[in-house]
Amino acid sequence: MSEIRAASADDLEAIVAVHKAAFGRDAEADLVRRLVAAGRDAISLVAVDDGDAVIGHVLFSPVSIEEGDDGNALGLAPVAVLPEHQRLGIGHALIEEGIGACFVRDAKAIFVLGSPAYYTQFGFTKASAHGLFDTYDGGNAFQVLPLTVDGLAGYKGCVRYAPEFATGNP
Ligand SMILES: CC(C)(COP(=O)(O)OP(=O)(O)OC[C@H]1O[C@@H](n2cnc3c(N)ncnc32)[C@H](O)[C@@H]1OP(=O)(O)O)[C@@H](O)C(=O)NCCC(=O)NCCS
Repeated sequence: MSEIRAASADDLEAIVAVHKAAFGRDAEADLVRRLVAAGRDAISLVAVDDGDAVIGHVLFSPVSIEEGDDGNALGLAPVAVLPEHQRLGIGHALIEEGIGACFVRDAKAIFVLGSPAYYTQFGFTKASAHGLFDTYDGGNAFQVLPLTVDGLAGYKGCVRYAPEFATGNP
């Protein structure tokens, strides 16, 4: 069994370890460190096992939008689950709870760069259909989930992740 809770400062090393193991490299773990250090971890949730050990993590940070930016849009990244705990629905639970937390903090929209096959289940659709594009040439992998009926009103153009994404590989 696992449960989802807000991450605390004490969880950072365990979170870093989850990303390193899940991605098999340091880039995403380093990104998390940079986002946390910059205070851009707007929403950071962990999945923990019965002993409160961290087995998964998801982070949402503010994005900026070329037109209509109001500081109310967030980017989902990164998300990871320890390899031995994958395919058990933990990633799904982290993302679902994360979307709920974004909604509670009155975010208007969430962006993600990831597999459409995976993110469609949460209601994400391609951002380009709304005139919104990423800086990574993500194409259909760049997706958006409006959190209110007019969640995308006024948003147009290039969507930029937090500056910490530009430092390093991801
Ligand atoms: C992506 C990730 C967080 C999903 O976590 P999880 O706990 O395994 O996810 P769930 O159990 O909720 O869902 C698993 C299902 O999603 C599918 N899935 C997982 N990653 C997918 C992907 N990139 N594209 C398409 N489908 C994917 C799996 O096929 C699985 O379905 P199945 O068991 O019916 O075959 C996890 O696989 C992971 O940490 N991967 C390495 C890091 C990563 O790629 N993160 C995402 C980019 S930021």
